[in-house]
Amino acid sequence: MHPTRDLATGGAGTASRTVNAPRKDRLFLVLLLAVVPLTGCGHTQDSLAPKSHQARDIADLFWWMMGGAWIGLALVVALLFWSWKRRNRRGFGTDTEGPKPGERHGWYTVVGLGIAMPIVVISTLFVISDLFVIKTTQAPASTTTKLTVQVIGHQWWWEIRYPGTGAVTANELHIPVRTPVRVELTTADVIHSFWVPQLNRKVDAIPDKTNVLELDADAVGRYRGQCAEFCGLEHAHMSMYVVAQPRADFDRWLAAESKPARTPTGSQALAGQRAFLDGACSSCHTIRGTSASGYVGPDLTHLASRSTIGALTIPNDPSNLTEWIRHSQYVKPGNKMPDINLPGSQLREVVAYLEGLK
Ligand code: CUA
Repeated sequence: MHPTRDLATGGAGTASRTVNAPRKDRLFLVLLLAVVPLTGCGHTQDSLAPKSHQARDIADLFWWMMGGAWIGLALVVALLFWSWKRRNRRGFGTDTEGPKPGERHGWYTVVGLGIAMPIVVISTLFVISDLFVIKTTQAPASTTTKLTVQVIGHQWWWEIRYPGTGAVTANELHIPVRTPVRVELTTADVIHSFWVPQLNRKVDAIPDKTNVLELDADAVGRYRGQCAEFCGLEHAHMSMYVVAQPRADFDRWLAAESKPARTPTGSQALAGQRAFLDGACSSCHTIRGTSASGYVGPDLTHLASRSTIGALTIPNDPSNLTEWIRHSQYVKPGNKMPDINLPGSQLREVVAYLEGLK
């Protein structure tokens, strides 16, 4: 029997299914892969799941533009089909001299849909985005916000300071919920870009310049953000969380974060503190309340209160911290921390000390 006929007959139904099934799977996979980048790979870093009035304005503008683009595409495709259907009508072609019937309509179409409509649509979008969306997402005056936070980009982590308090932390920016917070943004080295898609637009961190943006989260939660400007080898591992808390929780957190480090208890942690202060660690890291005052890496005063290590590269727990100290260059190649060769017992002591810094 002929193979193609076989597929077409009822008896070939099974064969047809078996032949088509992988194709359907592939089609589904292709569609899925196309959708994933559009959704921002999950809900925690998704500009289409806004959690502030600024992000909602941005998402609304996106959907209006998307709708307009689809209508425009549909119009162009419909015109293409329409002209293709009429391709054999008399009067089209080069067999006669002079203007042909229907040409005047063509001219109207070009001027109307090709010139006038794009001018109207693009001007409208420009006015809406410029007068409304840019204005609402614009940096606020310092008098209109309740709290100012300084964020400093480093290759490849975020330093976070709360002026007026001693609090310095890294990669986890805590804010009170439903409160406008002014974020003053700069960088210690190259250009980075601060972007928390569910809360606001991206703003660049530029050397010797302070850019400002507002964070005003609607709901309590943890919002993932990402450096959005290529800044070197570990650009992709330069992430951060914005943690929006009820006011009382935030005040408690800030009070705890402002205090110097707690004195270690237990002989292992005490030995770890000695090793930290006498060794290489203290030349790059600050632990407030001790002699460690380095400024190359993050402030570790309350390291144990943070949920990740290496700007969200790995979760913060004793085994990961051990791995990070020994093989930092394996976990996050190119970062400024060298692999530290501590003897096993001393490594356990340093980890015990650091994991006690709540
Ligand atoms: Cu910092 Cu990309």
